[in-house]
Amino acid sequence: MAQHDRDGHAKARWWHNLTPGDRRRAGARALIDCRARRHLDTLLILSPRNFRRALRLLRDQGPRAVLSRAGHYFRSWRYMKRAQHPFLASPPIAEELLGMTSREEQAYLRWYAKEAYDGDGEIVDLGSWMGSSTVPLALGLQDNPRVRDKAQRIHAYDIFTWEDWMDGSVAGSALAGRYRPGDSFLDEFRRRTARWEPLIETVPGDLTRLGWESAEPIEFLFNDASKSETLAAAILRNFYPYLIAGKSIVVEQDFAHYYTSWVHLVRYRLREWFEPVFHVPFSGSAVFRCTGAVPREVLEEGAALDSFSDDDIEAAFAASLDLVGEEMKPNVLAARAMLWLHRGDPTRARHELSRAHQEGYAGLDLIRVEREIEAAHQT
Ligand SMILES: C[S@@+](CC[C@H](N)C(=O)[O-])C[C@H]1O[C@@H](n2cnc3c(N)ncnc32)[C@H](O)[C@@H]1O
Repeated sequence: MAQHDRDGHAKARWWHNLTPGDRRRAGARALIDCRARRHLDTLLILSPRNFRRALRLLRDQGPRAVLSRAGHYFRSWRYMKRAQHPFLASPPIAEELLGMTSREEQAYLRWYAKEAYDGDGEIVDLGSWMGSSTVPLALGLQDNPRVRDKAQRIHAYDIFTWEDWMDGSVAGSALAGRYRPGDSFLDEFRRRTARWEPLIETVPGDLTRLGWESAEPIEFLFNDASKSETLAAAILRNFYPYLIAGKSIVVEQDFAHYYTSWVHLVRYRLREWFEPVFHVPFSGSAVFRCTGAVPREVLEEGAALDSFSDDDIEAAFAASLDLVGEEMKPNVLAARAMLWLHRGDPTRARHELSRAHQEGYAGLDLIRVEREIEAAHQT
């Protein structure tokens, strides 16, 4: 990927530092890993857990959603096999991590913490849930040869309070039915990350109130917590001032998700101080590099949807569509339609949905937004 290479984010520096003997051994290991991976991929796709997920999707959203999701997984699987991205070419993470991130995102996070992170600032993981973003970061950091001081360099923030929408993500696992809305799941996060405890500082609390309480800069900000305009605004205000201009990476995990329309508008507003690096294929995550310090007054502008003009909205979504891979464009278009539902205009939302269909896109989150629009029209 051209942008990826130009950015230098993905340079396979390690190869140049190896002796000829090490290179031979690394080559042999890669061959074995590759063969193992072929089987592991198939097993992961055909796992009973995925089968249960498909049944759940069939029950909740119908056959169209199952077919759309199956096609998506199949394309992702084929893509992973051919991909040239260094992070996708590395062996997959052996454990199947319970969580809401994709294998591609997990591969990217581990790759980043091992190959790209320099230790000039901290790693911040916002919205850690059960650790499917935290653990890959820890796996990468523990193998990072350049960073000597690894103690508590990963800061995992979450309110760790169960909500009913989380039930779907634990259905069929040992955690099904364990928590009720309002219960703390901090115990389970700690259990799942215990092996890497020395690398992780766990920060439980509400991100609308919590800020960055360190004098250190932030080199990597993984944002999986911009779940509302209020949360997005708090994160801008409380974490962005600590980014390192010309270096820090921000990952917006909700970039290709139908619900979080404000993410696109905020990215558009910040375009002067960030450059897009790439979209992690077959995932919600888009990666940006901070190129300059964002003025405080811009960070204070927040993320309220009604603070953007129609022209801003058009331009913001056009830029987002340019950045994401073809496979995730339905979700960005779904966010464009959802924006109007959030703004209380279901008629305009329906118009945006038809526009997406006319542009040739269907499936994935466009199905979810269609249901939300239907429900809004019935009330
Ligand atoms: C989509 S989940 C994150 C998934 C996670 N990154 C993973 O790897 O599976 C969003 C997380 O944001 C957290 N969250 C929601 N509102 C929050 C708030 N006000 N403060 C802190 N965390 C919050 C939730 O508890 C949840 O764990």
